[in-house]
Amino acid sequence: MVKAYKFTKISIKRQVKKSANYDNVAFFYDELAELVFLGAIRKSQRSVLSHITDHSHILIVGGGTGWILKDIADLHLKHLKVTFVDHSELMIKKAKNQPFWGLEVEFIHQSVQALTFSKTYDVALTPFFFDNLSSIETHKAFSKINEFLKPQGIWLHVDFENTRIWHRVFLGLMYKCFNLLCNVQTSNLPPVVSHFADGGFEEIAHKAFYQGFISAKVYKK
Ligand SMILES: C[S@@+](CC[C@H](N)C(=O)[O-])C[C@H]1O[C@@H](n2cnc3c(N)ncnc32)[C@H](O)[C@@H]1O
Repeated sequence: MVKAYKFTKISIKRQVKKSANYDNVAFFYDELAELVFLGAIRKSQRSVLSHITDHSHILIVGGGTGWILKDIADLHLKHLKVTFVDHSELMIKKAKNQPFWGLEVEFIHQSVQALTFSKTYDVALTPFFFDNLSSIETHKAFSKINEFLKPQGIWLHVDFENTRIWHRVFLGLMYKCFNLLCNVQTSNLPPVVSHFADGGFEEIAHKAFYQGFISAKVYKK
């Protein structure tokens, strides 16, 4: 009996360790990001929104608190629809309370790798999403998003870069913190660029922020 109890405890611990969970930081994530990156997290994401056009159906993956929904609504484009995916319950809760008047938003509380969409999308937006994933998870998530992105679709990809020594040091610290706070299991940026290359995507815009630590890229399928 005692042995069975011990076994259950260990297996639960292992299960919990498996995936990242941003619930613990949902209440202060935006403020922390603003403070540490001096506004670059938002600036970088805003810089790619001009590539969205009227009548687009947008898939946002790892949208966090959803602050970007107001920025998308403020584009005042015709007939925009958004599918907003995040696997943190509290992030989704916050996102639902954002002021995105005029925008049709469907919220999905789920891990993107496990999703089956019933539609295809004109635009995919993955802001600081892939940095949470291992190479294998990235492969699965990339394939899933790509499968539902229309031919000629646009992929707005904003994330960290690791091209200088201080980037590596900064990333190392960030991964340690997010491992403790959110159970992020990886400790390196995954090779997302090679997935775009292998998938035949064309990079049509690229801007750097925060001394090259953040890049905002626009890819065309
Ligand atoms: C670093 S935060 C970025 C939040 C937001 N995009 C921003 O820039 O402010 C990463 C977000 O991705 C979500 N996430 C991580 N892995 C995910 C997965 N496999 N499927 C869906 N969402 C995921 C987390 O819950 C979190 O809200």
